[in-house]
Amino acid sequence: MHGGGRSFVVNRSETLLEAALRSGFYIPAQCKVGACQTCMVRCLDGLVPAASRAGLTDAEIQHGYFLACLCRPDGEISVARAWDF
Ligand code: FES
Repeated sequence: MHGGGRSFVVNRSETLLEAALRSGFYIPAQCKVGACQTCMVRCLDGLVPAASRAGLTDAEIQHGYFLACLCRPDGEISVARAWDF
């Protein structure tokens, strides 16, 4: 996973949010279950699982947004937080 100019590994047992926080890559979060959308990030490259877009608007999805707390990536992705772009 690449984010904000940094790279880290997401283990199969964890979400993108969990891996980011473990790696010192800050993503704001509150509920950690997909309800508050605080952890919304944007995919710049790669594919994110559809389940990580639950509850988002069509416009948010079209612009590549997804929820880090619901994301268990299958491959390499690059993401940006709101303040990264
Ligand atoms: S932390 Fe609330 S939706 Fe991800």
